[in-house]
Amino acid sequence: MSNETPRAEPLRVLTGITTSGTPHLGNYVGAIRPTVIASRTAGMEGFYFLADYHALIKTGGDPARVQRSTLEIAATWIAAGLDPERVTFYRQSDIPEIPELTWFLTCVCGKGLLNRAHAYKAAVDKNREKRAVAGAADLDEDEDAGVSAGLFMYPVLMAADILMFNAHRVPVGRDQIQHIEMARDIAASFNHLYGEHFTLPEAQIEESVATLPGLDGRKMSKSYDNTIPLFTPRDQLKKLIAGIKTDSRAPGEPKDTEGSALFQIYEAFATPEETAQLRNAFAEGIAWGQAKELLFERIDREIAPMRETYQSLIDHPERLEDMLKAGAAKARRIATPFTAKLRHAVGLRDLRAQATDKKSKATKAALPSFKQYREADGQFYFKVVGAQGQLLLQSAGYASPKDAGAAIKALQADDAALAQLPAPTDAQALHAALRLLREAAEA
Ligand code: TRP
Repeated sequence: MSNETPRAEPLRVLTGITTSGTPHLGNYVGAIRPTVIASRTAGMEGFYFLADYHALIKTGGDPARVQRSTLEIAATWIAAGLDPERVTFYRQSDIPEIPELTWFLTCVCGKGLLNRAHAYKAAVDKNREKRAVAGAADLDEDEDAGVSAGLFMYPVLMAADILMFNAHRVPVGRDQIQHIEMARDIAASFNHLYGEHFTLPEAQIEESVATLPGLDGRKMSKSYDNTIPLFTPRDQLKKLIAGIKTDSRAPGEPKDTEGSALFQIYEAFATPEETAQLRNAFAEGIAWGQAKELLFERIDREIAPMRETYQSLIDHPERLEDMLKAGAAKARRIATPFTAKLRHAVGLRDLRAQATDKKSKATKAALPSFKQYREADGQFYFKVVGAQGQLLLQSAGYASPKDAGAAIKALQADDAALAQLPAPTDAQALHAALRLLREAAEA
């Protein structure tokens, strides 16, 4: 696919957020804010989704947490300015084609590749250490103790997320680079066996974006329990900021900006001028209490308007549910026909296709088709109908059946012929259908 239509298409950017926690300031500065800004770039097609299937791997046995986190993360993205009209914003588990693709990919993915995944290896290494300490014989536990098959398969599910939409770029943190490389490997194996179906994705690492320190000065992270929730109420935000670790320098003593969590967090929210002012204030010995007050006001200035939107969305989950359902429908306009094509490619096919000549009606029943007809106005028309009977393209009238036939021929040969035709209702689905027809004709 990457070879077929290289760069006339917009750049597809896709990323997922695991729904296992509450968004914090570090997520906002490191991922949400830059992604929302990037999503407004012209010539880019954004796919953002809530990775709730992935969440099951980490949150086993805590369904309420998965649901709550899904609600909070969805509300956060919308409150932070993501425009679901402009991008495709959906929930992974609303796309049943994802687990189906996961299986197709599982079958072309070497087990050895998964053995080398960092998260899995770390778990195994830990078990090995334990065995070494205890003496292997004393432990019935094996190397894979405590590792679910879900954790092992994590990279394949993630590859399915990415490959389903043929994303070019995947913005992720450094810890995810290996997963994108694995998605490329898996895509290449599939393409090698079944033809060029998948674009090979690339990781996109934001070098310029700060990693925010947490309350204790280490990287802000759920696993360190040092986070400041993004939409915590104002008074709570103030309290948490008051708890940021500082040194014991008294008011009037100059303070170091270097290594100051407070200063770094301020910098992530402030303009360069504001940051320069705080730097001066540090040199002049601003009291920590006063610096914390400045930080609180600066963060709250950016967050407060979003907090209101966030709260209203949390109070009206039906709005988010509707938004996500609409996003899923949009995503499935790509996923459904693409999966049909992949099913065909791997050999999950309508049996009639084999029993009869490939040009027969029975074969065509499982494929999209061209329908030619004459209207009461005396003109000749054609339409392209999807495998499920949905209308994908409606031509204008032609003076003769020959003209209509020529237009069909041109379209069968090349999507470029679309330039001469009325705009389709769903260009993506139409492209997929035409591709499928060409493949079937070659088969
Ligand atoms: N594994 C990613 C993380 O933990 C989340 C994720 C799931 C993802 N599927 C994805 C990210 C697809 C990018 C693309 O951060």
